[in-house]
Amino acid sequence: MLNILYHYFGSKILHRIEPEIAHAIALCYLRLLNQLVRKKKNITPVLKTKICGMELPSPIGLAAGFDKNSEVFNASLSLGFGFVEVGTITPDPQIGNSKPRLFRLPEEEALINKMGFNNKGMLYVSKTALMPKLGIVGVNIGANAKSINKILDYTIIFEFLAHQFDYVTINVSSPNTQNLRELQKPEMLEKILKNVNAINVSLERQVPIFIKIAPDLSKNNLIEILNVCEENKVSGIIATNTTISPKTLKNPINFEGGLSGKPLFKPSNKILKILAKRKSASTVLVGVGGIFSAADIYEKIRMGASAVQIYSSFVYKGPMHLKKMETDLENLLLVDGYSSVEKAVGVSIG
Ligand SMILES: Cc1cc2nc3c(=O)[nH]c(=O)nc-3n(C[C@H](O)[C@H](O)[C@H](O)COP(=O)(O)O)c2cc1C
Repeated sequence: MLNILYHYFGSKILHRIEPEIAHAIALCYLRLLNQLVRKKKNITPVLKTKICGMELPSPIGLAAGFDKNSEVFNASLSLGFGFVEVGTITPDPQIGNSKPRLFRLPEEEALINKMGFNNKGMLYVSKTALMPKLGIVGVNIGANAKSINKILDYTIIFEFLAHQFDYVTINVSSPNTQNLRELQKPEMLEKILKNVNAINVSLERQVPIFIKIAPDLSKNNLIEILNVCEENKVSGIIATNTTISPKTLKNPINFEGGLSGKPLFKPSNKILKILAKRKSASTVLVGVGGIFSAADIYEKIRMGASAVQIYSSFVYKGPMHLKKMETDLENLLLVDGYSSVEKAVGVSIG
């Protein structure tokens, strides 16, 4: 019932309000729901899957950036997400870039954001994360904009938060923190990974580590990143973050920030395809970018993604659409004779 209300309220009213205020209203509602929910939604056995030892009731996750401060993960799981990634969280709290910094392009089914890691910092999140989790919750970590040693920021925050979450994503791909994408360079990435791995081995329970990459990388960059990840025991790659390229817009405009939603589907798939062809069997791929339907999810799975994440279509279409995508995905799998998600992963890799 609450979901239906959210769906109609979301589609009819929230879309007429300034986007960041609409997001704040949605979070208020979800914070309330977060206190009330006691169990996650039951999802069909066909959609159950396992990645890096984590049992997911569904391969459809909520991408980073929606629940920046780890405040509504149980509400999100109760809406039907198979897993949730909170963050990006930085060591110190920061307000992010000046407003307005979130824009809708409804005719493109896209969003442009230049948020700049607005978040309440790791100390706050270490408290919100104490709430018992109803499912798999990962934490996406980043560096403070004013940090003079961005590599050290990842070490600090990993040490502080990793043990409270099921997995950690190292975000080196936000276009909204100056020079952050430079950390995708192999020598930089290697330093970050060596540091976090040294901490990870000392934890009582080692956490899977994912790297989230940009869609704006050349094939050579991508292969270099993949090699560094595989040499440094990264569990998986999340492909992709938002794009800085307006090229895939139907009506290209110049913008500052990162573009997500429909126009990102093709560029993020291009990245997924290159990775799927070259990766070793143990490296897991999570597909993100432009998912609006079960067919989009199925395409990413067939291309090699073991799980997917969504953001923009959740904003545009709400939780009822998530439910529809789950039902449709189950049908797509069954029609093609796949009794589980795992059986369809990578079947279209040429
Ligand atoms: C408003 C907004 C804020 C975001 N914040 C983050 C973030 O903090 N960290 C991150 O890794 N990705 C962030 N993202 C990127 C999403 O996680 C996702 O990679 C991207 O939106 C592509 O997926 P989509 O096309 O389904 O939206 C953000 C996206 C949007 C629209």
